[in-house]
Amino acid sequence: MPMSSSIHHLLGAVPEPLRPEAARRYAAHGPALHSCLHRLYGEAHGFEQWYGSLLSAVGELHGARGVELAALDTARAAQPDWFLGQQMLGYCGYVDRLGGDLRGVAARIPHLQELGVRYLHLLPFLKMREGENDGGFAVASFEEVDPRFGSNADLEALTGKLRSAGISLCADFILNHVADDHDWARGAREGDERLRKFFHVFPGRSQADSYERTLGQVFPQAAPGNFTHVPALDGWAWTTFYPYQWDLNWSNPEVFAAMAATLLRLANRGVEVFRLDSTAFLWKREGTNCMNQPEAHLILQALRALASIAAPGVLLKAEAIVPMRELPAYFGQPAQPECHIAYHSSLMAAAWGALAEQDAALVRSVVAGTPPLPPNASWLSYVRCHDDIGWNVLRAEASEAGDPQARLAAISRFFAGANGSFARGEAFQSSDPHAAHGSNGMAASLAGLEVASDVEAETLALRRLLLLHGLVLGFGALPVLYMGDELGQANDYSFRQRPDRAMDSRWLQRPLLDEQRFSERHDSSTQAGRVYAALRALVAARQRIPALAAGEPRALLPSAPPVLALQRGPGFLALYNFSGKPQPFTLQGHWSDTIERRTLSGEITLAPWAMQWLLRDN
Ligand code: GLC
Repeated sequence: MPMSSSIHHLLGAVPEPLRPEAARRYAAHGPALHSCLHRLYGEAHGFEQWYGSLLSAVGELHGARGVELAALDTARAAQPDWFLGQQMLGYCGYVDRLGGDLRGVAARIPHLQELGVRYLHLLPFLKMREGENDGGFAVASFEEVDPRFGSNADLEALTGKLRSAGISLCADFILNHVADDHDWARGAREGDERLRKFFHVFPGRSQADSYERTLGQVFPQAAPGNFTHVPALDGWAWTTFYPYQWDLNWSNPEVFAAMAATLLRLANRGVEVFRLDSTAFLWKREGTNCMNQPEAHLILQALRALASIAAPGVLLKAEAIVPMRELPAYFGQPAQPECHIAYHSSLMAAAWGALAEQDAALVRSVVAGTPPLPPNASWLSYVRCHDDIGWNVLRAEASEAGDPQARLAAISRFFAGANGSFARGEAFQSSDPHAAHGSNGMAASLAGLEVASDVEAETLALRRLLLLHGLVLGFGALPVLYMGDELGQANDYSFRQRPDRAMDSRWLQRPLLDEQRFSERHDSSTQAGRVYAALRALVAARQRIPALAAGEPRALLPSAPPVLALQRGPGFLALYNFSGKPQPFTLQGHWSDTIERRTLSGEITLAPWAMQWLLRDN
């Protein structure tokens, strides 16, 4: 069956009035879809028949899209750069920590609006594994909201309320693995051969061993190795993350079809942005580290094409925590687009690294190496998130001066509080002091606010917090704030009392939103009030400055080593002093400070850890 004739499967499943639009979308995206899927699964028996039934399912899901979402699809098709403006701001948090449940999250909408948030990433809220579940990243069912958080109706109500408030909901789409109590895993354990093929299961250890030779480890301490022996399977299941997270076998076309339909059903519940979790790991190839494989990109491109056909208002976001050279591929090419957004974890890690080194070299190197993006695509910038700051993404940049391993390990020790450091964090999954894996902690604790015992120490810690937020807000990306950082919340040490969490220090940065600090946010006599006011001033300034939109070009200007001087467009200059000493900078021409509203020219001095945003005077 040639590609063109498969369109009747799609159109046959779409209600009559939608057919012309479906045909237009298929004409635009069908060729990419077919080509990717043919390259992935073309050898499989009955490929064209499988493709036809996939299109029928997609057509039905297109037809089931509600009126409001269909209107959103139309609006966004007319303005595909809707998420690139300097008004765009994200916020990320856990449902229970932010609002107790989905209804409680809805009650936080005024707070989000006060901050200027237009995009809310709620960490996993679908039904999760009983017991340990990696903070919800072990999904037991994609079809229902976790009962502790509410129902599917609550989710739909929340997405509707957010939409009315101009906020897009972003949800994790955990596509690399499912929990071992997901129906597919249960069925496989019970002997269902079809479902066993949804996973990578090796009968003996030898195949696992030969893959293992070239694989890395995500949780080398808490979950060493990449395979788990499952007696009921009489074999070894591939488990990149925790042993209860079974990697899906994306070389099986049935897995693709099931997951594609899952994504579109969630889109129809009102999810507007999908955070594609652990995208780098989707395809396995012996002799490699099984990351960033070409087929993983084909899978993502096919999902993009499907979304463009059935739910074109949605955005796909790559969570690929990989070195920068691997990142551009996650955006695809103009003719074969992939994700709209990708985390810039190198920028995030380099900013923290620069703070520890009191030298902006790492961050300058990352900025210099950040390629321009295809149209209608954006980086995601962030100071902190629910995960560790992974240092290994910076190996290439860290090797520009000295031994990268030693350099990154020194940074990691710094954030664990070594040698009189102001930081209060912990090294993640690394007991070897000569190696760096990751660091955990809330931004405020890592920046010194937790230990600041006098006004001067607090002022400096606050500057560091703003320095990093200023970089993230001024870089040219979709910046995402992490829940609690707007109030300067510190680490939460209570996870140590919970046996199911004690082994994973990422829980340090997952506190409940602090109601006390929240109630103090408008009171500048409190620490929370000072953090909140300063951050809001930055956000407000950003909203006024078109040069801070995602796509505006960036240029690095020469500066003293601790300073990052980042020009955006012809008329905006951001200066960031990554050191505890005052630093000189010479301005060409006349500039105005956008926060303090002062006029500046010639040689100026940046205070310790200070940032300045300057607009050129005409
Ligand atoms: C992503 C998540 C992380 C989780 C992992 C496995 O990296 O951000 O929290 O542990 O995927 O799902």
